[in-house]
Parts: sequence; structure tokens; C-alpha cells
Amino acid sequence: MRLTCLLLFVFPYLATCQQQQQQPCAPRDYGYSSFVCVCNATYCDDLPRPVLVPEGQYLLYTSDKAASRFLKTEGFFAGRAEGPSVRGVEYILDPTTTYQSIMGFGGSFTDSAAIIILSLSTPAQDNLLSSYFSPTGLEYNLGRLNMGGCDFSTRTYTYVETEGDVELTTFALQPEDLDYKIPIIKRAQEMSSVPIKLVASPWSAPPWMKTNNDYIGFGQLLPDMYQPWANYFVKFLDSYAAQNVSIWALTAQNEPIDGNVPGFTFNCMGWTAEQQKKWVEENLGPTLAATGYDHVLLMIMDDQRYNLPGWAEKVLNNGTASQYVDGIAVHWYGDQISAPDRLNQTHHLFPDVFILGTEACEGDTPFEQEVIMGSWERLENYAHDILVDVNHWVTGWIDWNLALNTTGGPNWAGNFVDSPILVSQEKDEFYKNPMFYAMGHFSKFVKAGAVRVALTSPDSGSLDSAAFLNPDGTTVIIILNRSEVEELVTVQVPERGTLPLTLGPRSLHTVLFQ
Ligand SMILES: *[C@@H]1O[C@H](CO)[C@@H](O)[C@H](O)[C@H]1NC(C)=O
Ligand SMILES: *[C@@H]1O[C@H](CO)[C@@H](O)[C@H](O)[C@H]1NC(C)=O
Ligand SMILES: *[C@@H]1O[C@H](CO)[C@@H](O)[C@H](O)[C@H]1NC(C)=O
Ligand SMILES: *[C@@H]1O[C@H](CO)[C@@H](O)[C@H](O)[C@H]1NC(C)=O
Ligand SMILES: *[C@@H]1O[C@H](CO)[C@@H](O)[C@H](O)[C@H]1NC(C)=O
Repeated sequence: MRLTCLLLFVFPYLATCQQQQQQPCAPRDYGYSSFVCVCNATYCDDLPRPVLVPEGQYLLYTSDKAASRFLKTEGFFAGRAEGPSVRGVEYILDPTTTYQSIMGFGGSFTDSAAIIILSLSTPAQDNLLSSYFSPTGLEYNLGRLNMGGCDFSTRTYTYVETEGDVELTTFALQPEDLDYKIPIIKRAQEMSSVPIKLVASPWSAPPWMKTNNDYIGFGQLLPDMYQPWANYFVKFLDSYAAQNVSIWALTAQNEPIDGNVPGFTFNCMGWTAEQQKKWVEENLGPTLAATGYDHVLLMIMDDQRYNLPGWAEKVLNNGTASQYVDGIAVHWYGDQISAPDRLNQTHHLFPDVFILGTEACEGDTPFEQEVIMGSWERLENYAHDILVDVNHWVTGWIDWNLALNTTGGPNWAGNFVDSPILVSQEKDEFYKNPMFYAMGHFSKFVKAGAVRVALTSPDSGSLDSAAFLNPDGTTVIIILNRSEVEELVTVQVPERGTLPLTLGPRSLHTVLFQ
């Protein structure tokens, strides 16, 4: 069976290739709103490449609160006349109205994620990495990693701990890089049929470069450290290149606002937009250009949406920073209290600068349970946020830790949170939360280079939706129903007809057709 489907690598949509059988979820109910899927050294549910159905038919993948994960069904388009008599919510797909192109989807190779993945037996590690990166997994094509320590590390560190070493002669990658993250990244790359594009972000400069001589709390880069800190980025890129890992993009600073908050409890460094502009135009931008790293994309902000469009205007207007900046990175925390119109305002001000989601996780506030084994609401929050973002020009979405332990750690600062995959080292098992499937409904089907196209409805109620045209010509429609009511939906597709869908309560759907 597997042998015949090796052909899938070469001819992904070859209709004659017998399709590899999809391994179903092994569900386990921990008493929350839905269930997790259990994997171990010998078993894991998967998602083989879809084998396309002929024109006039469509594939539908459904996950729901009650029972299903990536449940595959097939259907036929109906002519407009013979379409269902009750039409329900009516959508119109217009592939000629196009928006942004999509960079992709992914998760983060934090120190903690790498440590936790490597705590499993080797075959279980392979099942976990395959679940995200292989052709039978979610096929993530983006990844983010911490440059030096972050809170999802087991200690505080940077790459230059020698006080006053402004020449960075003692710069050295650490065991977190060499023994944990880099080996995991390489295994993911080997399994993947597409390049995994890596985004690197620093949380803090070495304490001796900062006003407060600390990793945490209120503290900024000392003015005479602006150039050494730019050189540190080059050393990082050189060191990863020496390990044969190339970095696709950098963010100037993870959450630059954090370090302007007195008493902030984990690794941070404070910047204002004006300071970031000055550093990018006088130090980082010219230094990357002079050292042959101008092909590495540079993103600013890397913080919450509510700072837009002001942060972008302050960095990109006037001066030369804009010539070094490719993108604006956004995190999802606070999206409930900040309108997504900030994203399209920013896009309309800077149409050539992309917007990319670079961090999101659940269970991060003191009012919530850190880890919930099987929360359907958390799938809904992920899928809703991604759909809102892509409908406001965001080009991709990178989740936070790829995996954590079942209490949401390790985290040296005690900032435990949830993850799509939770690991039990003791049982040599891992658990796929509903959030894992939320990511897959996008990452598996919407390919890098896909273009978002118009999908409109006069009254879509509480449904969230988006449509994409893939580079291979296939069309993807994603619809989320967060209500308890079963709902009929029809989509009018030019040259195909009516796509009739019955969306069960609390369900997420991906439709794929040519
Ligand atoms: C691994 O999971 C499979 C499927 O759930 C199960 O049959 C098998 O017993 C598990 N293996 C171990 C060692 O728990
Ligand atoms: C990097 O790749 C080169 C060429 O394939 C190889 O010779 C070298 O050993 C690799 N270095 C590391 C650290 O993997
Ligand atoms: C900065 O640019 C904006 C918009 O291009 C312009 O209105 C403003 O006057 C400029 N400010 C300065 C200080 O140059
Ligand atoms: C942003 O996009 C939304 C949804 O398409 C639209 O309703 C809104 O008017 C847009 N706002 C701006 C400022 O462009
Ligand atoms: C997860 O990691 C944290 C921090 O190391 C630890 O305190 C906690 O006990 C771990 N949880 C489990 C279930 O091992």
C-alpha cells in the first residue's frame, strides 16, 4: 500500500495511484468539551495527500466537536435548477476577485518544544514530527524559533554571556540549538516535501547590553549597543548557516512592548517604534546588507495587532527603514479587544509590506486553565482567528510551541500554556488537541502561493469562511460553524454549479475541488 503511494510524491494528483488509507483518530475523552487523539510509538492518526476527484465533484474534510477529525467525504455539484430547494446560507465564489497571496502555516521550534519532543522514544518522535511535516501530516511549511533564550526555555541565556564582549568573540550557539532545535528542524526538513521556511526572533539581548542589566523587566538596549546588537544577528545567521540551517526571515524583536512594562516576568527587551526605526535604518538594515544577508526577510513589530497601524507608520514613513523592511509580524493576544480593520488599514497604507501572524496560543491568561485536553472552543478560537486574519490581508499564521508537556511546560518563568500537541514522556504517548486539526484544515490544503479569492454572502450569520485558489489550480473553501444548530449552506461556483453543504453543529470544513 505505502509503496504504490510513493508515486504520490512524484505525481501528487495522479488519479490512478491507489490512495493511501487514512489512519483514524484514536480518541480519548478527558471530560472536556471534545476529545484528543492519542498517538504513541506504533500508532498515529494521519492525513494522506488528497487524491483529487474528477471535475464536477468535490472532496469535503470535516472535523466536529462530537465525533470527527478530518472525516473525508465526496460529493457532486448540482446544477442551479436542480440545487436543493431550501438554499440556506448562500455564498458566491468569485475567483476573479483576488486578494493577498499566502505564505503558509506552521508552528514554533521553541527550546521547550524540542526538549519535549525529544523526551519521547524515537518512533514516537517520528510520529509527532510526521504529524506536522510529512506528506501524511499537516505539511507545515513555516516555522519560528527563538534566537537565544525565551520563556519556553528551561533557563535564561543568550549567545554572548561575557560582560562587555562588544566584539562578540565569545558568541556561541548553545545546547538548546545544537542538541535540541537544530536536530529537530533537520528531521522535519527531511520529512517534508516542501522547504520549511524559518523565522527567527530574539527575546532579549545579553543583560550587559541593556539599561537594566537583566533578561526580564523594564529594560532597553543601551544606545552604544545598537551596532553590537545588529552584529549579533549576523553571528546568529552565520552560526546557523554553519549548521546547514538557513533562516528565511527575522523579526527585529519579539514583542517589543513587553520590555517597556515594569516588572515584566520573562525574557524581553523594550523598544518604541521610533527606536526600532532608528536601529533598523542605522544598524540592522545596513549590517544585513553589508554581510550578504539582505535576502533574509525582515519583519517589524512582532507584537499585538492593537499597535497597528501606528507602529508601522512610525517605522516605515520617512527615512530609510522602509527599504530594509519586508513585513509586519502580528501576534494574536488581544485580538478580541482590537478590530481586525487595523490590519486592512495597515495593508492599505503599505500594500507592498506583507503581514504575517507569528504567534498564538491558548491558556496564556491568568483567568484560564493552561492546558485543556480536548477543548473544542480552542479549535474554534484558532480557526476563527485565522479566518478573520486572512480576510484582512494576513498572509499566513504561525502557531506557538509545536508541543509541550501535559501541564503546558517546561517554561522557566512558569508561564505555562496550551499546545496543539501535548506529550506524556512517562506513557510515551502524545495527544492531539482539537487545535491541531484547526491548523490542518488550513495548512494541508492552502498551499504556499495560493491566492485568497472572494467568497461572499448577503447573510452568513455567525459563519466564518474564506476561499483560496492554489498554484495547481485547485480551489479551497473553508467554513467554520460555531453554533449548535445544523445549517444548510450552498456555494455558487462559476462553471461548476451549486455546492450543497450541510454543516453540522460546532464544525469546521475544508472543501477541495479542481
Ligand atoms: C499504541 O496505540 C495503539 C492504538 O491506539 C494501541 O493499540 C497500542 O496498544 C498502543 N501501544 C502502546 C504501547 O500503548
Ligand atoms: C553541512 O553540509 C556540508 C555539505 O553537505 C557537510 O559537509 C557538513 O558536514 C554539514 N555540516 C553540518 C554541521 O551538518
Ligand atoms: C513623515 O511622513 C508623513 C507621511 O508620509 C508626513 O506626513 C510627515 O510630515 C513626515 N514627518 C516628518 C517628520 O518628516
Ligand atoms: C476591512 O475589511 C473589512 C472586511 O472586508 C471591511 O468590512 C472593512 O470596511 C475594511 N476596513 C478598512 C479600513 O479597509
Ligand atoms: C511540565 O514541565 C514543568 C516544568 O518543567 C514541570 O513543572 C511539570 O511537572 C511538567 N509536567 C509534567 C506532567 O511532567
